[in-house]
Amino acid sequence: MIFHQIATERGCQSYFVACEHACTAIIIDPEETQIDRYLGLAAQEGLRIHYVLDTHTHADHFSGTIEIAEELDVPVIMHRDSPAPYVDLRVDDGEKINLGRLSLNILHTPGHTADSICVQVEDRVFTGDTLLIGGCGRSDLPSGDPDQLYDSLFNKLLLLDPATRVYPAHIYNNREHSTLEEEAAKNPRLQLKERDEFVAQMRRLTLREPDHLSEALRTNLTGGKTVEQLISAAARNVPFMSLEEVLRRVKSEDSEVMLLDVRERDAFERGHIPGATHIPRGQLELRVNEALPDPTKRIVVYCEVGRVSTLATATLREMGFSRAVALDKGMQQWVENGYPVESEA
Ligand SMILES: [Fe+2]
Repeated sequence: MIFHQIATERGCQSYFVACEHACTAIIIDPEETQIDRYLGLAAQEGLRIHYVLDTHTHADHFSGTIEIAEELDVPVIMHRDSPAPYVDLRVDDGEKINLGRLSLNILHTPGHTADSICVQVEDRVFTGDTLLIGGCGRSDLPSGDPDQLYDSLFNKLLLLDPATRVYPAHIYNNREHSTLEEEAAKNPRLQLKERDEFVAQMRRLTLREPDHLSEALRTNLTGGKTVEQLISAAARNVPFMSLEEVLRRVKSEDSEVMLLDVRERDAFERGHIPGATHIPRGQLELRVNEALPDPTKRIVVYCEVGRVSTLATATLREMGFSRAVALDKGMQQWVENGYPVESEA
């Protein structure tokens, strides 16, 4: 087995598992920011990715499954009960996925979410958020159930070989893995072995809502894009111009370049780059014909911080303004730098 554990800064873990004989790989719980790493690893190791798998509907980070699946035309694997419409291969307890000579055995382990699965491969088990090192997944988010979590932990996972290595979807300490035996002995959540006590302990927990809960659920449940994905997709199609370069052109009254402010009217009136034209982002597409009749014009688009202007520049390029560029950063930084500002007041 070829195995790589890939962690993000926030402790999310994803796993790259491959059969060295068949050169086929699966990525378990891919994270959206690590996609280039997975693809790079596959290329470096001479492997082909055959599947992507989410152990459950993640509520706290953005899954990379759909992007990889679309790019490589490979199936997304999730539990049968997953509400996500983009799942290609729905699996259930007791089934297995063959990956070359490896068997990926599926255990349905609801509790953290109704669609949680654990995946056991040879000497290890990928436990998602069902079992963590020194903890277990919370059961208070949508579709969570502490009673089911009890069964998943005590009547399913802990019945596997005690030497099985545990690789969870989140790690909050410096460990890379643990074993079922160690968790059974030391994990504080597993010390209350009676159902009622365990359930009461889970219900007593008062946990903060995860950051980005609604955006993570929106995108992971529907396959829709995150705000960052939209902006980075736009940024790939857009060149940028630095603040210093724009300042130099403003000072030399360079008539080749047209500055376009896409913020709201009140922001524009409070202060803008000298000589800038104003079209708010919301009206851009509808006003280009009268306001920007020359598609060959060199246009530098800016906004407050540089995100809206990136989207606006991509739109202009799509509409044929092949020399539209975005200001790298925005008015906020321009003002902080002490560069000249013109106001309508
Ligand atoms: Fe989770």
